[in-house]
Amino acid sequence: MISIISWMPCLTLYINMNYPCIINLPKIPDKRGNLSFFENVNQIPFKIKRTYWIYDVPGGEFRGGHAYKENQEFIVALSGSFDIVLDDGNEKKTFSLNRSYYGLYVPRMYWREMNNFSTNSLALIVSNTEYNEDDYIRDYSEFCLLRKKV
Ligand code: TYD
Repeated sequence: MISIISWMPCLTLYINMNYPCIINLPKIPDKRGNLSFFENVNQIPFKIKRTYWIYDVPGGEFRGGHAYKENQEFIVALSGSFDIVLDDGNEKKTFSLNRSYYGLYVPRMYWREMNNFSTNSLALIVSNTEYNEDDYIRDYSEFCLLRKKV
């Protein structure tokens, strides 16, 4: 599935919703402090239903260790830095987030782990579904089996 995203005026970005990708966000520089934003479907390829954030992560801890059957996410490091490891059942890729003017689009059906959190890091996550424990795949071998059918 291909989604067309308008990123900046007169600039259109094509996102393949089957693959993770870094999305650059608008940045309004200002001597009083910079401002960035994203809006439903203008910068990210889905309509936001949920927002949550991860903070106060103790050194060495990791989050995630699951995949979603339907849920898609967009993750921004609002403060500090952390890594997101995405696994499609064959290959793992690590994305390092450390600026608040870009984020990672995570399609459905990727095994996801977040680690390497810096002190005081803040991860903002928006998703296209409301929280639903039934949408989680928390067993890696089950994920690998289901991933083959995607
Ligand atoms: P989980 O998604 O497993 O966290 P992570 O992927 O960051 O390790 O969620 C941890 C707990 O928080 C789990 O008990 C479910 C609950 N939770 C909600 O109630 N609502 C939400 O939107 C999220 C993301 C989690």
